[in-house]
Amino acid sequence: MKLLVTGGSGFIGSNFISYWLEKYTRDTVINLDLMTYAANPLTVKYHQKLFGERYHFIQGDICNFNLINDLVKEVDLIVHFAAESHVDKSVENSSIFVRTNVLGTHTLLEAARINGNKRFHHISTDEVFGTLELNSEAKFDESTPYNPRSPYAASKAGSDHLVKAYFETYGLPITITNCSNNYGPFQFPEKVIPLYITRLLNNKKIPVYGKGLAVRDYLFVLDHCKAIDLVITKGKIGESYCVGGDSERNTNQVAEIIAAKLNKPYELIVHTADRPGHDPRYAINHAKITRELGWNPTISFEDGIDFTIEWYKNNESWWKPISSKAEEIAEKYLQSVNKKS
Ligand SMILES: NC(=O)c1ccc[n+]([C@@H]2O[C@H](COP(=O)([O-])OP(=O)(O)OC[C@H]3O[C@@H](n4cnc5c(N)ncnc54)[C@H](O)[C@@H]3O)[C@@H](O)[C@H]2O)c1
Repeated sequence: MKLLVTGGSGFIGSNFISYWLEKYTRDTVINLDLMTYAANPLTVKYHQKLFGERYHFIQGDICNFNLINDLVKEVDLIVHFAAESHVDKSVENSSIFVRTNVLGTHTLLEAARINGNKRFHHISTDEVFGTLELNSEAKFDESTPYNPRSPYAASKAGSDHLVKAYFETYGLPITITNCSNNYGPFQFPEKVIPLYITRLLNNKKIPVYGKGLAVRDYLFVLDHCKAIDLVITKGKIGESYCVGGDSERNTNQVAEIIAAKLNKPYELIVHTADRPGHDPRYAINHAKITRELGWNPTISFEDGIDFTIEWYKNNESWWKPISSKAEEIAEKYLQSVNKKS
C-alpha cells in the first residue's frame, strides 16, 4: 500500500511514519510537509536513512491544490496530520490556523473526492469538545457536542465537520481520531513536556501557567500511533474514535515529576500569567475504541516520561538547533511574572 502522510515531519506524523513503515514492511510513504517552524529537517534525514526508497519526502503546502491532486492520484490512503497545532500561537494570530487547518483539510478532501473517493483518515484533538469541570468525573466521548474554545480548537473542529460532511455528502471513506495530549520523542520543545525537559536539562526556569491546576490527559505517542493503525485497518467508515491515555495530570504535577526525575530543584518551577481562555480540564472516555477495536493505552505516564526524558537527553543534536522559538515563548511567559511582581 502507498500512503500520503501530511505533516510527517512534525511530532506525531513522524512517529507514525516510523511505526507504520516498521510494521508494514512492503508499504511506502510519501511525506508531504511544508516544513514550518514546527518541523525538523533532521527528522526527514532520519527517515531517509532508516527507510531508503520506501520513504519519499516532498516539501509542500496542503493548500496547494495542484500539488495535492497529483499526489493523491498516486496513493491508496491519506493520513492527515498537517496542522498548525500550538494553542498559544493561535491566541496571538489565528489566520494561519484557519488557512492550514480548515482550508488545507478541505483541499485534501476535495482531491480525495475527485480521485475516486480515496480512503482518508483525519487526526484530530479532544480540544474540539471544549472543556470539563476541574473536579468532576465527566469525560469526553464520541457523543460529546463540539464546543471549541480556542482558535486552534475551532479550526480543528471546522476540519472535523468538513471531513464528516464529505462522508455524508459524497460517501468519502473517512475515519477520525480525536486524541488527548500526546508526548514522546520528536516533539517540538514549545510543547509543555519537551519544554520542561529541555529547559531543566539546562538548569533554566520553567513556566507553569496560572496556578498550574489545568488538567490534561496524557498519552504516549506510540499508543496513539497504534490507535490510528487500528482505526485505519479495522475502524468503521464514517466514524470518529476518541483516544486517551487514562493519565490525567495537572501542570504542577507534570512540572514536579519531570524536575524530580531530573534531580532539579522545585525552585526552577515558576508560576506565570495564565493563558487567555485556558481550559481547566480535558479527559477522554475511550470505551468505544476499546470495545470495538480492542485498543487500550499500554504505556504508563511514569514509563513514558522516563523514556521521553532519556530520548531528549540522548538527542540534544535533534532539539538544540530548533529550540530558540520555544525559548522565546517560555521567556515571554516568565516575563509576565516579573511584570506582575
Ligand atoms: N500534539 C498533540 O498532543 C495532539 C493531540 C491530539 C491531536 N493532535 C493533532 O495531531 C496532528 C499532528 O500534531 P503534532 O503535535 O504532530 O503537530 P506538529 O506541530 O508537531 O506538526 C505539524 C506538522 O504539520 C506541518 N504543516 C503545517 N502546516 C502545513 C501545511 N500548510 N502544509 C503541509 N504541512 C504543514 C508542519 O511543518 C509540521 O511538520 C495535528 O493535526 C494536531 O491537531 C495533536
